[in-house]
Amino acid sequence: MLELKDICVSFRSERQDRVFGHTRQQVLFDVSLSVKKGTCLGILGESGSGKSTMGRVLCGLLRPDSGEALLDGIPVYGSRAGRRNLQNKLSVVFQDYTTSANPRFRVKDVIGEGLTVRERREKRRLDRPREIARLLELVGLPADFAGRFPHELSGGQLQRVCIARAVACSPEVILFDEAISSLDAHTQVQIMDLLRELKEKLGLTYVFITHDLTSITYLCDDVLFLYQGHVTEYLPVSRISETKDEYARRLLESIVVFDTEERKDAV
Ligand SMILES: Nc1ncnc2c1ncn2[C@@H]1O[C@H](COP(=O)(O)OP(=O)(O)O)[C@@H](O)[C@H]1O
Ligand SMILES: [Mg+2]
Repeated sequence: MLELKDICVSFRSERQDRVFGHTRQQVLFDVSLSVKKGTCLGILGESGSGKSTMGRVLCGLLRPDSGEALLDGIPVYGSRAGRRNLQNKLSVVFQDYTTSANPRFRVKDVIGEGLTVRERREKRRLDRPREIARLLELVGLPADFAGRFPHELSGGQLQRVCIARAVACSPEVILFDEAISSLDAHTQVQIMDLLRELKEKLGLTYVFITHDLTSITYLCDDVLFLYQGHVTEYLPVSRISETKDEYARRLLESIVVFDTEERKDAV
């Protein structure tokens, strides 16, 4: 349902060339991928490899130099209909929950942002207090958290609120960019369990960006390795150990991959 075809992205670099003026630094090179409905694609790469840039292309924030981004066959860029289609179907959760949630907003206002999107799309008013209580329950938080401010929550709780905001607009796809990376290991597992549960319950499709292979094996069906803007490997997680790609191998060897049950026992 979500597709990238030969995406190239470059930025103007700070370095100035005497002859040509500003040079451009290419960050993504012919990146292609396709995410099937109901699956989770993991995007794995070290810092600076271009993951967030790719995420921005996927969620309509950055028009690529060349290539095509499609959602349900409709181009994301180049038409208002494409942009609308994306806004209606895709939500995003970022890493930095402290900046992605306005500190002066209460939890109900943060979740309310997602509800506003849905109200606009469905052209009707929602019963907000009821919806907010339902969403808080869905992400495992007590209903009376609605009146709290972000600083009154733990990192894990706040990330649950951001997840509630993301599902509030009833999306079909959610993009997570390092959404659990700054949480401690125990909380990471709890959030991943929540994400799995929501995916089943709501029939969601995920794109999960991370620099951590362990969370990919826990959550994803397919994995795409990104190295300096190039896709070096793209395969089902179940076949990850068969990879011939040197970069992927290096990552695999540098960590111990727990299977789900062992990992649960370990924390
Ligand atoms: N808006 C921008 N302007 C210039 N360079 C950028 C911009 N955004 C990202 N970059 C550069 O693109 C490269 C990839 O960045 P990014 O996609 O954020 O990587 P990752 O998320 O994998 O850490 C980096 O070298 C970064 O400096
Ligand atoms: Mg990033």
